[in-house]
Amino acid sequence: MGASSLFTEDRSAEIVVASLGEDTEPRLKHVLGSLIRHLHAFIKDVELTNEEWEAAIAFLTETWQACTDVRQEFILLSDVLGVSMLVETINNRSLDMTTESTVLGPFHMVESPPRELGDLIALDGKGEPCLITGRVLDERGNPLPHAQVDVWQANSEGFYDVQQPETQPHRNLRGLFTADEHGEFWFRSIVPRYYPVPADGPVGRLLRATHRHPNRPAHVHLLVTAKGHRPLITHLFVKDSPYIESDVVFGVKESLVRDFAHVDDPVRADQLGFSNPFRAAHFDVILLSENGQETDR
Ligand code: BEZ
Ligand code: FE
Repeated sequence: MGASSLFTEDRSAEIVVASLGEDTEPRLKHVLGSLIRHLHAFIKDVELTNEEWEAAIAFLTETWQACTDVRQEFILLSDVLGVSMLVETINNRSLDMTTESTVLGPFHMVESPPRELGDLIALDGKGEPCLITGRVLDERGNPLPHAQVDVWQANSEGFYDVQQPETQPHRNLRGLFTADEHGEFWFRSIVPRYYPVPADGPVGRLLRATHRHPNRPAHVHLLVTAKGHRPLITHLFVKDSPYIESDVVFGVKESLVRDFAHVDDPVRADQLGFSNPFRAAHFDVILLSENGQETDR
């Protein structure tokens, strides 16, 4: 036995990394090797105590125990630590021209019902009426006809339909729209409210222990797809929403924030079936072609 393979504090990471077999799949070896090195450096940096190690194991165990078919506490932990946004951002580096992405979130759990352009997705009519318009374009500004725009959002009290199955209509505030031949889409909705992420589990305890609020600023989710282009998962954020500067999951990017303008136009309101005044937001979505370059059109 060579003494150099025995564990020492100084060489701890090196020794564990050396235990990974030669034939380990190269990417696994690279990722796990890096994780081991960072983990050991972190433990040395903070000089982790036995009690802290036990608390960490208990916390991860409770995180696992909080997971159900409809709740993923590990993803929530990743979200509030900024890990989800970092992975998302690294993997969707937008060329300057394309629309930035953000987190998917847990509430796209049901299929959005296909709807016609202009439809009202606030099925109970509760909330401040809002017209949302936009276009789906390629990097050169050409329209992407018949692109699919899947939207979902919270209501004016900050709840998704799936959180209030008894009080909100089925599939409230969800819709799958097909843009017209000019890549344009529009629908009628209400202004969503900010809301807290689920904070009754271990992640909520972590937020309270670190004096963080649990809220996300008001937003509309969009999942936009078009043939030959990379699907885009993003949000449209309401500029004057509370927490716009302090999203608990770090999902806000400046380019995704829009003024939900107050429109005082009784004739237009009447055409839309809205009370006057109403709100309106416009959001053009620019998709990246599948191979990162322009597709021939
Ligand atoms: C959401 O926007 O729906 C969401 C994202 C991350 C965690 C919780 C909710
Ligand atoms: Fe959301």
